[in-house]
Amino acid sequence: MPQNEDRKKVPKDFYFLKIVGEGSFSTVYLALEAESKKEYAIKVLKKRQIIRENKMEYVNREKKSLLKLGGSKYFVHLYATFQDSEHLYFVLSYARNGELLNHLIRHKSFCLEWVEFYAAELLLALEYMKSKHIIHRDLKPENILFDRNWHILVTDFGSSKIIGEDDTVQQPNDSNNCRRRKNSFVGTAQYVSPEVLHGEKPSYSADLWAFGCIIYQMIVGQTPFRAGSEYLIFQKITNLDYEFPEGFDETARDLVEKLIVIVPENRLGANDSTSYSSIREHSFFKNTNWDDLGPAPALSDGCDKDKDNFVIPNGLEPGLSDEILAQLHLNMLSFPSEPEVVMHEPPVRKKSEPKRRLTDLTQEEIEERLKLQKDDEYSSFVDGNLILKRGILEKKKGTFGFARKRMFLLTFGPHLYYVDPSTMTLKGEVPFSEDMKTEAKNFKVFYVHTPNRIYYLEDPTGYALEWCKAIDEVVTHYFPKKN
Ligand code: ADE
Repeated sequence: MPQNEDRKKVPKDFYFLKIVGEGSFSTVYLALEAESKKEYAIKVLKKRQIIRENKMEYVNREKKSLLKLGGSKYFVHLYATFQDSEHLYFVLSYARNGELLNHLIRHKSFCLEWVEFYAAELLLALEYMKSKHIIHRDLKPENILFDRNWHILVTDFGSSKIIGEDDTVQQPNDSNNCRRRKNSFVGTAQYVSPEVLHGEKPSYSADLWAFGCIIYQMIVGQTPFRAGSEYLIFQKITNLDYEFPEGFDETARDLVEKLIVIVPENRLGANDSTSYSSIREHSFFKNTNWDDLGPAPALSDGCDKDKDNFVIPNGLEPGLSDEILAQLHLNMLSFPSEPEVVMHEPPVRKKSEPKRRLTDLTQEEIEERLKLQKDDEYSSFVDGNLILKRGILEKKKGTFGFARKRMFLLTFGPHLYYVDPSTMTLKGEVPFSEDMKTEAKNFKVFYVHTPNRIYYLEDPTGYALEWCKAIDEVVTHYFPKKN
């Protein structure tokens, strides 16, 4: 990015091509700088919402931490920040190859060679964070992105803590605050360390716990602490209740067991100086050359076109006007995994924000989206209900029956309509009830069990799990007691 210090950037310096991530108070766009045609990820935060929800501290922490980490290649780089009357903008490196989580889901698990490489890159990132006095506090595969050469870029420092600096800043409702609610925690349930869970003072060791969980997950394909609810996950964490599946590599097991340790000071590396020398020396890393980790493994499915540049669609104006915003949101709703506006680009899955459910919408957001929905070709089928998720699914008659392509529309109400997209006729509705259950068979096939019938469905794009999660969230929203 040309460093013209005299002029702050403005939204019109960029073409906003598509939405690549959505969080509870931010949206991340793929953008091209108009002058250089270089690609960036621009995180846009709504000022009003940040103030209303008292999230200023998150925004400041993210900015401060990213600026401090600018000297390392293992972090998303913060190139610029600017604002207008309604929004704050963070201009970040664009991670072409998306989230570690998506690749883990696609590959199911990684071979040990890959795990050694990515654990080594992550360890170098942790060492750099420690040298800058930063604890991430929300390390997880969604926050580890890949650049175009498949090297990691750690992102999302909203929950981070800068040791020494933040200690003096105390905000009401801030999770750093001594007066914080017992059991309120920073991070994501599956990766949260027991001491953070119990509201104790955070240390670098919290990231070592998450590091152990991520190594386990890369090998097994699942997190070590799994249960049906956050409460049960917390119980398992507190009791160190997890297992290694048969065949789990012994050396890797030794490393994981030395990281996933209840007492933070006893975790491997916790007492090392700046570099985590005792972790580097563990025999799991026996093939690692710490001075040169070498090229990253080829994680791609062979069809990524990462040499191609993005193209600005004909007629797209620079900036983020209401009209462009509306169009980008519509594109995302219609083509969540097949962005229309960008050519030559592998699908990047919408970032899942675990704390925000599909149904967690304010009245304002519902009204805004309903307005946009009016122009939608499927709006006439949903009786004025807000479409929460849509997509073409194959609907089968019985497990081996003939499959028909249907557009499924999951809406408030609650409803799950299905429409024949070739004749644009409403074909029916999967009836909602408190007894409705989803069952994912694999990444494509899932069943919806209703009291009178089982619906056999297939998502050809491989996001069956997201469909199950979305339907479950709507069921829980309308029938919270039973679910
Ligand atoms: N999603 C969230 N942040 C991103 C980034 N920096 N690059 C690509 N996708 C993202």
